[in-house]
Amino acid sequence: MSGSSANRMRYIGTRITSTVHEKIAQCLEESEMSMETVTQNIRKVDNRTQVGKMNSYPFEGNRDMEAVLELLLTCKANKSIDHFLPFMLRLVLTPSSLLSSTSIDLGTDVRFWKKHDGTVCGFALVDLSVWGLFYLVSPSEEGGELEQEILSWACNRTSHISRGESITLRCRRVREDNSKRISSLARQGFRRDTDREGLRMVRPLDVPLDEPLMPRGFKIRHLSGPDDIDAYVALVNSAIPEATSVETHQRWIKTPEYIPELDLIAVADDGTFAAFCQSYYDPLDLARSTRREGWTDPIGTAPAYRKKGLARAIVLEALWRLKRRGIEDAVLGVAGSNEAAQKLYESIGYRVIYKMYDYVKVL
Ligand SMILES: CC(C)(COP(=O)(O)OP(=O)(O)OC[C@H]1O[C@@H](n2cnc3c(N)ncnc32)[C@H](O)[C@@H]1OP(=O)(O)O)[C@@H](O)C(=O)NCCC(=O)NCCS
Repeated sequence: MSGSSANRMRYIGTRITSTVHEKIAQCLEESEMSMETVTQNIRKVDNRTQVGKMNSYPFEGNRDMEAVLELLLTCKANKSIDHFLPFMLRLVLTPSSLLSSTSIDLGTDVRFWKKHDGTVCGFALVDLSVWGLFYLVSPSEEGGELEQEILSWACNRTSHISRGESITLRCRRVREDNSKRISSLARQGFRRDTDREGLRMVRPLDVPLDEPLMPRGFKIRHLSGPDDIDAYVALVNSAIPEATSVETHQRWIKTPEYIPELDLIAVADDGTFAAFCQSYYDPLDLARSTRREGWTDPIGTAPAYRKKGLARAIVLEALWRLKRRGIEDAVLGVAGSNEAAQKLYESIGYRVIYKMYDYVKVL
């Protein structure tokens, strides 16, 4: 192939935008090349594509993490994404972390979009077994062409992973107040999964807080280490079926984010574990957010010990521990259908700040 035709091919490749097939057809109209030749040359263009003034790239590991985190925190401050995303995505993308998923191929299932000045303005991750689709767009690009490009990429990637089998792509935890994201998803054929309503609730800690009042015959303590894990996992799964496993908790207690003093259990006098409340915070988020935010999640009481005031006492204890560490807002998530938990949280001072829904598209 001559140098000039190679350059032309490269030029054609870099013009591939959101609707790949449309562009291929356009290239074919402009040249006498076969579809096969064009496709081959698109692949040669270093796996990068261009949307208007943006290029997209496969994720290149730690090098890109900082820019993606910057975008996460910008989106969070702009109220375009759910509060839990920054912490969760950071864990997903850190290979040694608790949530790093073996089902994600970081080279192909994660992609980001950059402006020509190098600023990261879009990010997406597709993981069909656990996380579904997560994506970010910088506030100035919300609802525009870039968001459409990201969603097209995610749908194409999903179809590729599923090898043409029909599959549902799920975009989780879309805030009901993010109208731009909702209409972008609708334009791509996603619809709201009405069965799954989630509530994000916050309890400010800089206003009066009740003291925990433990029912007689129970004590609160934190997990003392690996010896407690089997009984702890049995307790959690008795309250929330299949919520965790011994292996997951063993990995969690080895992460830098784990603080043993915030991993609380209520223990009966006979030694039985009866209730739990896990708290934590993301140091990176604390350093950047206007309010210092911590989490009380998950929370639960074994069925045999419910309605004794255990959950109320253990959550209040957790809130005091977070407050003493300088946390200003305690955050948690609860299903819209879980009235018992909502009543408990409201009685402790949590308020709903937004609802969230999953959006799904069958591919
Ligand atoms: C929700 C849950 C944690 C409550 O635990 P608990 O130890 O029974 O709660 P408490 O005894 O401390 O109750 C405190 C308050 O919660 C509310 N509450 C608890 N159970 C309730 C129920 N079944 N229906 C309505 N309200 C309920 C009440 O407001 C209660 O106050 P009251 O004593 O004045 O009525 C428990 O039912 C549970 O583990 N459920 C399954 C797991 C779960 O849903 N976890 C929360 C996920 S976000």
